[in-house]
Amino acid sequence: MKKLRVGVVGLGMGRGHVSDYKKHKMADVVAIADTNEARLADVGDEFNVPGRYTSVQEMLDKSELDIVSIAVPNSFHKELTVAALEAGCHVLCEKPMALNAAEGEAMIRAADKAGRRLMINFSFRFTSASWFMKRQIEEDMLGEIYHARTVWLRRKGLPGFGGWFGQKQMSGGGPLIDLAVHRLDLALWLMGHPEPLSVLASTSDRLAAPLAAAQGAKYDVEDFGVALLTFKNGATVSVEASWISHIKEQEIMETRILGTKGGLLQRNLREGYEFETELFTERDGYMCDLKPHNPMPPTPSAAAHFVDCIAADRPHMATGQEGLAVTQLLDAIYESARTGTAVLFG
Ligand SMILES: NC(=O)c1ccc[n+]([C@@H]2O[C@H](COP(=O)([O-])OP(=O)(O)OC[C@H]3O[C@@H](n4cnc5c(N)ncnc54)[C@H](O)[C@@H]3O)[C@@H](O)[C@H]2O)c1
Repeated sequence: MKKLRVGVVGLGMGRGHVSDYKKHKMADVVAIADTNEARLADVGDEFNVPGRYTSVQEMLDKSELDIVSIAVPNSFHKELTVAALEAGCHVLCEKPMALNAAEGEAMIRAADKAGRRLMINFSFRFTSASWFMKRQIEEDMLGEIYHARTVWLRRKGLPGFGGWFGQKQMSGGGPLIDLAVHRLDLALWLMGHPEPLSVLASTSDRLAAPLAAAQGAKYDVEDFGVALLTFKNGATVSVEASWISHIKEQEIMETRILGTKGGLLQRNLREGYEFETELFTERDGYMCDLKPHNPMPPTPSAAAHFVDCIAADRPHMATGQEGLAVTQLLDAIYESARTGTAVLFG
């Protein structure tokens, strides 16, 4: 079978996309695009990519691509995803899907119209710990799931002031849309995407705003956020995220899922990006724990999964619709935090 021709746009996080596609025997990275010429040259040379463009449209016009990864600041996700879909490409777009649900809906409409696929890079689903958890739920080890607690807290992990992350117009928000988007997606995926009923949320910029002001930098997003979500099936999710907070650890990523028969935990090890997971249950009156040890069986990366599914013509995970589900909740979280009241879904 012919290899799939891939282009990658945005070469910060996009460098990882290039690296992942390069490892796949069915993918050929033929083009990259970035407005930063130095990055373009660095990544192009490192991975020996022939087509290098400072204009995304020119890349789309000239490269006959099958797949495009979009890894640019959040405010450009919609525009560039739609352009790539209209050029006939399947798109793997970085998280968060878009600045808001209206943009996400436009992206889904463009994919439907073009008859092309849209996947969102919820990369934390593509870990052995996450697949272990999903498997336990599929095997009904949890019973009825009634709560998830999902957090990503940093002690001191503010993105540099003056960049796009701290500007709402370009990022859509702070750690909620940047970090909690992953933990929320993971919880929703494990819970089977229940229908939302209400959201009550609060945000704070008490630590970051004075630091930014002292440097004269523009900063208009939260540095901490918390939300309680309820769902029509009676389940609840609590979510917390921070870029800066007075906690012991440098970085905590943790997702707990509670069910009537068992509970699951996933958390990062040594404050890094390696994870452990565990199932807690009761058997014959005994409290029992089931812990898979590292190394666990590997999973494909999100990019490899996308290529696999396109090549085999089978459905992919982390669809545009699932991206939209998280984006709708984030919209409601920010709205609730802004108004100080709960947001109800119809
Ligand atoms: N999945 C993950 O775990 C993960 C991790 C980090 C970042 N991200 C996401 O990746 C995206 C990019 O984040 P980043 O940290 O790499 O940001 P970044 O600022 O480091 O890199 C973005 C790159 O895009 C380029 N760019 C900007 N506008 C462009 C345009 N119109 N056309 C072409 N290139 C353009 C910039 O020159 C820059 O090199 C964000 O949406 C972010 O949320 C995801």
